[in-house]
Amino acid sequence: MQALEKLSLKEKIALCSGADNWNTKAFPKAGIPSVFLCDGPHGLRIENVRAGSVNLKDSAEAVCFPAACLTASSWDPALLRTLGAAIAEEMEAEGVSVILGPGVNIKRNPLCGRNFEYFSEDPYLAGTLAAAWIRGAQSKGKAACVKHFAANNQEALRMASDSIVDLRTLREIYLAAFELAVKAGKPKTVMCSYNRINGVYSSDSRWLLTEILREEWGFSGLVMTDWGAMNDRAAAFDAGLDLEMPGSCGTFDRTMEEAVCAGALPESAVDRCAGRVLELAARCAYPESWRPKPYDRKAHHALAVRAAQESAVLLKNEGVLPLSREKTVAVIGAFAETPRYQGAGSSYINTTGVVSVLDALHTRGISYAYFAGYAPDGRFDPDLCAEAAQGAAQCDAVLLAVGLPEAMEGEGFDRKSMEMPQGHVRLIETVVEKNPNTVVLLMGGAPVEMPWEPEVRSILNLYLAGEGVGEAAVSLVFGEQTPSGKLAETYPIRYADVPCGADYGKDVHQAVYAEGLYVGYRYYDTAHLAVRFPFGHGLSYTQFAYRDLHVSFTEGPNGQVSFFLKNTGTWDGAEIVQLYVAPDCGGAYRPEKELRGFRKVFLKAGEEQEVSLPLTFRSFACFDAQENRWILESGTYRILIGASSRDIRLRTAVVLEGETPKRETLSDWYRHPSGSPSRKDFETLYGKPVPADPPAQKGTYTLQNSFAELQKTSRLCRIIYRLLETLVSKASGLRADRRDPNFSMMIEMAENSPLRVISLMQARRLPMHLTEGLICFANGQVWRGIRKMLERRPKSGGENHVSDHSV
Ligand code: BGC
Repeated sequence: MQALEKLSLKEKIALCSGADNWNTKAFPKAGIPSVFLCDGPHGLRIENVRAGSVNLKDSAEAVCFPAACLTASSWDPALLRTLGAAIAEEMEAEGVSVILGPGVNIKRNPLCGRNFEYFSEDPYLAGTLAAAWIRGAQSKGKAACVKHFAANNQEALRMASDSIVDLRTLREIYLAAFELAVKAGKPKTVMCSYNRINGVYSSDSRWLLTEILREEWGFSGLVMTDWGAMNDRAAAFDAGLDLEMPGSCGTFDRTMEEAVCAGALPESAVDRCAGRVLELAARCAYPESWRPKPYDRKAHHALAVRAAQESAVLLKNEGVLPLSREKTVAVIGAFAETPRYQGAGSSYINTTGVVSVLDALHTRGISYAYFAGYAPDGRFDPDLCAEAAQGAAQCDAVLLAVGLPEAMEGEGFDRKSMEMPQGHVRLIETVVEKNPNTVVLLMGGAPVEMPWEPEVRSILNLYLAGEGVGEAAVSLVFGEQTPSGKLAETYPIRYADVPCGADYGKDVHQAVYAEGLYVGYRYYDTAHLAVRFPFGHGLSYTQFAYRDLHVSFTEGPNGQVSFFLKNTGTWDGAEIVQLYVAPDCGGAYRPEKELRGFRKVFLKAGEEQEVSLPLTFRSFACFDAQENRWILESGTYRILIGASSRDIRLRTAVVLEGETPKRETLSDWYRHPSGSPSRKDFETLYGKPVPADPPAQKGTYTLQNSFAELQKTSRLCRIIYRLLETLVSKASGLRADRRDPNFSMMIEMAENSPLRVISLMQARRLPMHLTEGLICFANGQVWRGIRKMLERRPKSGGENHVSDHSV
């Protein structure tokens, strides 16, 4: 590449880290423009840096689309593509070259604080929807960024934790979603995750970033770090990690130059990475002549509403919905007035377009009596509850808005339990007793326990529905159209049923994925465990009948299934049909069934249509970890067509000729899973002992340890640790209030992130040599610490534009 030849080694290295939080570096003399990146993916978050703000909520006004937890419930790639295309228009309007999304991580455990940003517990569904969104987002030539690659399934200690996963599970579950997103979506960029995978940081992993991503999946774009995720820059160059974000004042530049000069790092590795930064700039930077192209905000708001309407999941309906406008309605729950409609953290959108349930009723001229019912933070308030109960008794029907308050879920921390706040639960119990015609409108980014479900006749799950939440809810409730979303994840009855529930969040340093392939319905269905609402479940005001399943093969396992689907009810509506394959081969351990296809089919009342879904090698294959390749096992495979994973309508079986793998010597748990597996069980799957993970102590501290660890033995670090709340509050402009999820995220990061990350993100305030000095102090090496601290900051090409990262 010609431009590369115009750069010195120093400049090439400098090009491989960001200029600041959101821009790559420009080198005008070589004709290299900078590229502007911004957060997403449910809308643009263009941080207001001009005001010197580091407040997550201080960003340019933008449309807030529903979060992935809801749009995934549409099971509709066409809708996801349209949402992506709307983002592409907004990017063009704002001069954004790269949107940091979609998030493709698997929902391993319902408590993960960031589940709202992810699509599903199933990789096929997550990957297919992500690919569609990417194609839309890149439709104007700019770039999407698939994140967080990979195995980032908890927020606790996300910057240091080690995901201990066996190879087969990685391939079939955690990498499979990315594989589909990359192969079918062709994103121009990928973001590596913060965590380690089996001991190796994602940013250092050649296996992940080159062998799998590029060589096997054919990815030809750029890989960037998550913000502050760079671990070992030399290893990362070799691994194929191109761009360090947000850039760390050139922290690594001098040592990398020295490494190349000493022959320890091949210049070709630097060239490869710099070349990919150049290519991104060449393809996605805006020309000087660029002028904002305004988009139609009204149309995007309407799209946000439509996406929510087509994704909301009617979980239960015993004759209450749709409501007639003739009925008198009590609207209860503060969420009806100030809705929960988006998550917190880096995907927080600053919108002025929110329409609440009350607003939407008002606009339609539907009268109602409103009662808040619980305290704003979700606490039980006896007076508010009593008032609401009285109101409920006086009306024909109740719309009851409840769920998870903002403080309970967000980026950077996991939920402590699956319970809803007491104020919401007690309100439901009280109101339902007074009025059986109660419709629960559920808002929140993840499954909750619903001990009250048997008493309630109707539940509409809105998840985090974006700025059109009220219009979407009201239109569905009053039957302007019928709901058609289905769950992209299981709602277990209780948290204790979650197969990785017992260990999750306990030893957060090491996340042991002992349940293997048994994530979500793969576990519940194999273990025949009752669930509150199964994967793929969702009701409609109309009904669908399935008939005449037919399977045909063209070559080997490639072929198709077809059947007829009829709308037998009186409403026009859409059904989401699901294809599951249930192997019975007797070789490798397999979940009872796995999703291998789906389609959302719209049918007018009375209409019938033939539906076909493809079958491929991967519909049947499993990953042979010994052979390190996908194989097709010989045997019988049941083909199941369902309306959910627990509502199978059509079935047949096929026999396929393939290979006969050696039967694994596994603990019995994996053939008959029930409850949580033990460490010993897992080691039979992992093939070796889980590495020891002794707590850090004085004398052994490194850059990988956190203030929370160092403060245990270092007085200086203890003082800093105690000041962290004040420091973070000052730097962020947020009140030091842990109930604010954005503050929670930042303080959690300051306390528990490896000091390496803090130093990279706050390179100006806490450069690496100061951090190393602190660590020496904590290790009792006072003089070394002083020497380190007095070291001059390395001068480097990276210091031309510098600002500290806000997150
Ligand atoms: C998050 C990313 C986000 C980035 C930039 C990180 O902390 O994990 O998802 O895109 O910050 O805000």
